[in-house]
Amino acid sequence: MTTGNVSGVSRTAIGVAWLRAKEHARLDRLFEDPYAGAFVRRARDTLARETGSSRGGALGELFGLHVVLRTRFYDDYLLAAAEAGCRQVVILAAGLDARAFRLAWPAHTRLFELDLPDLLEFKEQVLAGHTPRAERTVIPVDLREDWPAALTGAGFRRDEPTAWLIEGLLVYLSPDEASALLTAVGDLSAPGSRLACEHRGKGSEQLLAKVAATPEMHGVLAMWKGGLGTELAGWLTGAGWRVRTHDGEALAARYGRDDPGASTISFLTAVREGQETHGQ
Ligand SMILES: C[S@@+](CC[C@H](N)C(=O)[O-])C[C@H]1O[C@@H](n2cnc3c(N)ncnc32)[C@H](O)[C@@H]1O
Repeated sequence: MTTGNVSGVSRTAIGVAWLRAKEHARLDRLFEDPYAGAFVRRARDTLARETGSSRGGALGELFGLHVVLRTRFYDDYLLAAAEAGCRQVVILAAGLDARAFRLAWPAHTRLFELDLPDLLEFKEQVLAGHTPRAERTVIPVDLREDWPAALTGAGFRRDEPTAWLIEGLLVYLSPDEASALLTAVGDLSAPGSRLACEHRGKGSEQLLAKVAATPEMHGVLAMWKGGLGTELAGWLTGAGWRVRTHDGEALAARYGRDDPGASTISFLTAVREGQETHGQ
């Protein structure tokens, strides 16, 4: 199999899976993701373009630790939401995220994955025959279009609290596209819903400068539209979310991977105001 029509921004999901597969191979890994290797093996054609020659080294050096930290951090975030009683999970721009298969979800957890059609077609071919550990629904859609209609049409319940995950997406959206997406997330969020995403951390300008100075990364850089940038936390607060930020360097230390460079991309969790929720 090849990755066929997977192109443009969706190819970035294959680079992320490659970084997760490398972590899975470590004895001191911070998470287990055997599916990442399966995606990588089946995506050799694209992978050669994404990580071939010096490109893989650049990707690993600039984003390897970040992807590992965020995978573990979001695993912990989602499992804490489930433990607190949340049974509805929506992963926007799921890419090759295999959490539906690899995390121990409570019974009756409904998990929706949204991404572009070609990427999800490739993903489903690789996952054929594997059994998810949650009630999984895959929704092929462009998140700049009317995805809330597709989500509600697929059984999403807007009166139930949701744990939203927006991992590795916002930077690929313009400020207007990012605020439209987050407005829709807010409209669909019952009180007590939660969301998690990346947040620009200390030294993010240096990271941008390094990426700009790395020719192998110029293809990715050309797709970045910035999202809400440094305005994100304030925007969410103004839109009725109680926001908490999580410094990447502190997380790296907590997970035993001390590295001052980890603070350049940090994380944000938020709870929809209206009901007290514990364990954010
Ligand atoms: C860097 S990857 C991250 C994937 C996944 N969240 C992860 O961390 O492994 C970016 C993902 O965003 C998806 N994406 C980008 N723009 C999108 C859009 N307009 N609609 C749907 N998905 C989009 C891509 O297809 C790709 O899977």
